[in-house]
Amino acid sequence: MDKEKIASDFWREGYAVLHDFFDTELMDACTDAILDHYGVDPQSKHSDAFVRASQTEVVSWYPLEEKVSPFVQLDRHSGLGELTSSILGEGWRDMCCMVMFSKSGSAGQAWHQDCLPETAEHFNLNRLVYTHDIDPENGGEPVVVPGSHRKGTLPPGDPQGDLDGRQVFQPRKGTLLLLHGHTFHRVLPVKGTQWRASTNLRVVSRGAPTDVTDVAVYRNMVYRFSTHEVVEERGE
Ligand SMILES: [Fe+2]
Repeated sequence: MDKEKIASDFWREGYAVLHDFFDTELMDACTDAILDHYGVDPQSKHSDAFVRASQTEVVSWYPLEEKVSPFVQLDRHSGLGELTSSILGEGWRDMCCMVMFSKSGSAGQAWHQDCLPETAEHFNLNRLVYTHDIDPENGGEPVVVPGSHRKGTLPPGDPQGDLDGRQVFQPRKGTLLLLHGHTFHRVLPVKGTQWRASTNLRVVSRGAPTDVTDVAVYRNMVYRFSTHEVVEERGE
C-alpha cells in the first residue's frame, strides 16, 4: 500500500477508493451482525420532517456502543489507522462508528456536505466500509464530485438533481472509500428489492471539534441534527 500516493490523491480529489482493503471473512461477520441487528424492516429514528426535507432515508446504528465484535476488529484495523495518519497526520480522533442501512425501495441520500465548509481545517473524514457488494441493479451507489472539497458550499438546487462532474462508484465487499466531509456527495436510491448498508468509521482531524458534523449542508437547507432544526432554507 503506497500511503503517500493515496494521501496525495485524497487531498487532490477529496476522496480515495481502495478495493479489497478488508478481508472477506471480517466483512461477512459484519454483514451477519448488521442483519442480526436490523432484520429487514427497521424504522428510521429521524423525524418525518427531516426525511421529507432532506430526501434522505437511512436507519443508523452505532455497533461500537455495544462492542459488537467484528466492528471492534474493524475499528482496530492497523492498515486503516496507518492510512488515516498518512492523510490527517497524528492527533486525529474518533467520532463514531455508524452503520447506515437503507431498505429496498428507499431514497438513499440527497446531495450534501457533512459539515459546513467555512473553515478548511474543520472537517470530518468518512472511512466508509462496504461489507457487501453494492450492485448497480439494486442501486445505493455512492456518488461524489471530485475536487469539490475545495469549492466552498454545495450549490443550492434540486436535492437529488445531477451535478456536473459527478462520479458514481461501485464498491464491492471489502472496499474502503475515504471521503472528505466537505466533498459534495450523495447515495443513489435503492431501487431494487435488496437492502443496502455501509459502515462509516468517522474521524476528525486534530483541529476539528468532534461535533463538527452537527450541522450539514443540503441543496435545499442547512440542518442542525442536535436540535432537529432547519437552520437555513436554501433556494435555487
Ligand atoms: Fe454524508
